[in-house]
Amino acid sequence: MHNPAWWQSAVIYEVYPRSFQDSNGDGIGDLDGIIQRLDYLVRLGVDAIWVAPIYRSPMADFGYDVADYCSIDPIFGTMEDFDRLLEETHRRNLRLILDFVPNHSSDQHPWFLESRSSRENPKRDWYLWRDEPNNWRSNFGGSGWEWDERTNQYYYHSFLKEQPDLNWRNPDVRAAMFDVLRFWLDKGVDGFRVDVMWLIIKDDQYRDNPPNPEFSPTQSSGNSLLTIYNSNRPEVHEVVAEMRSLIDSYPERVLIGEIYLPLKDLMTYYGLDLNGANLPFNFLLLQCPWNTQAIAKVVSEYMKVLPHGAWPNWVLGNHDNARIATRVGRSQSVIAAMLLLTLPGTLTIYYGEEIGMTNALIRAEDVQDPAEKRQPGIGMGRDPERTPLTWDSSEKAGFTQGRPWLPIGADHQTVNVEVEESDEASILNLYRRLIALRRAYPMLVGGQLGVLTTLGDLLCYERSDGSQRLVVLLNLGQSPIHAETGAGIILTGTDSRRDSEQVGNFIELRGSEGVIVEVIS
Ligand code: NOJ
Repeated sequence: MHNPAWWQSAVIYEVYPRSFQDSNGDGIGDLDGIIQRLDYLVRLGVDAIWVAPIYRSPMADFGYDVADYCSIDPIFGTMEDFDRLLEETHRRNLRLILDFVPNHSSDQHPWFLESRSSRENPKRDWYLWRDEPNNWRSNFGGSGWEWDERTNQYYYHSFLKEQPDLNWRNPDVRAAMFDVLRFWLDKGVDGFRVDVMWLIIKDDQYRDNPPNPEFSPTQSSGNSLLTIYNSNRPEVHEVVAEMRSLIDSYPERVLIGEIYLPLKDLMTYYGLDLNGANLPFNFLLLQCPWNTQAIAKVVSEYMKVLPHGAWPNWVLGNHDNARIATRVGRSQSVIAAMLLLTLPGTLTIYYGEEIGMTNALIRAEDVQDPAEKRQPGIGMGRDPERTPLTWDSSEKAGFTQGRPWLPIGADHQTVNVEVEESDEASILNLYRRLIALRRAYPMLVGGQLGVLTTLGDLLCYERSDGSQRLVVLLNLGQSPIHAETGAGIILTGTDSRRDSEQVGNFIELRGSEGVIVEVIS
């Protein structure tokens, strides 16, 4: 890697601000809370934080419904608090990435209030208004069209009706949204994670979507059609390229895209000549069945189709998906950690992943997420993976003095930062050791990834840079494995007692055990 950009070797940590740390006792995390905990993130060893939306919002979708893109919601603090967060983040050599939500605003945004005030309003065309709805659905279920009585037209919303979609074909919308990016870039933020990047532009003829032949009624009704006319439109790449050139007019910034698409389509978001997103989020490991063959297949396919010069990235969890420790089970969560931290490119960790937090059980009366409220009981709810970070064993887990907005996970007495910091064998200390190793061995970031081989529950691959060779051996099963390696030394094991152990040509791995061996040959 010649002169890599900072984000290429970065481990990014996603902070879901409502659930990270509350500083004022209202039960909801805030900017001051994040500042109080920055040193924890320094000790963990991450390079950057991505903070989910903190802008003024009625919170219909917990901040993904923005009413003023250049402000801070009072729940989270003030603009002065934000400036301090940025300063304190940078003072610790951490970077700060913000969430940018261009596809839709809140229905309370002054732009939409103007737009819906009359058909003649100059901002009418800033949103998607039609006399007749077509068959496009909302991603939260139901029709994507909402009737507006005052002006007798429908407007389109990809998500809640409180989140009207902006019209990115309108040059004034683009200009206004690019001003938003400049506002934060001028302050010094280090980049953006762009919400639903693949949805930003829709078919200009509003053609009906065809039915999805694979739809089953147990899924969200949002899946009943193939979304060919309201997502991943060819024109989106021109918008992304414009965003990118704006980002690039500032030094050392990064553009990350949230994109849920098949691999082939995902790759197009790097852009022609790599003029698109620096990192189209790679969610393959979020969706992959947890077995050696499936993992080997998705990792090698991804690496194979990466455009020349495009930079890889990996994600195990985020605020929209079940937590990794729940998906793969607690014992395998250490294997997931070792897999993630030994893959090439940029990595993202979802808050709480590093301490092995699991999805919490949410009682019906505690449900907050509109996705669950709109389509109850079919697993759409995202509250289980959004519960407060558990800092200690006290009743409120050190998160708040007040009543937490979502319940504290039932396992918080044992799964918490304080207990795990003092336990050498904890997953938290494994994350720290793995992140430190990644720093000590830059080839883990930018070196070659060898062929991924599988033998039953054993997943094995090599990372190398021409002079050094590391072999990663992961046992995805519960039974012991006798595995062939090369003679060498264990640099990091999921069992810390094995660090520095000499190995011969074979190694014994317990169930759910993984090691990284530096092969001496
Ligand atoms: C993706 C975000 O991650 C999710 O939380 C949100 O509900 C939708 N976009 C709508 O903004």
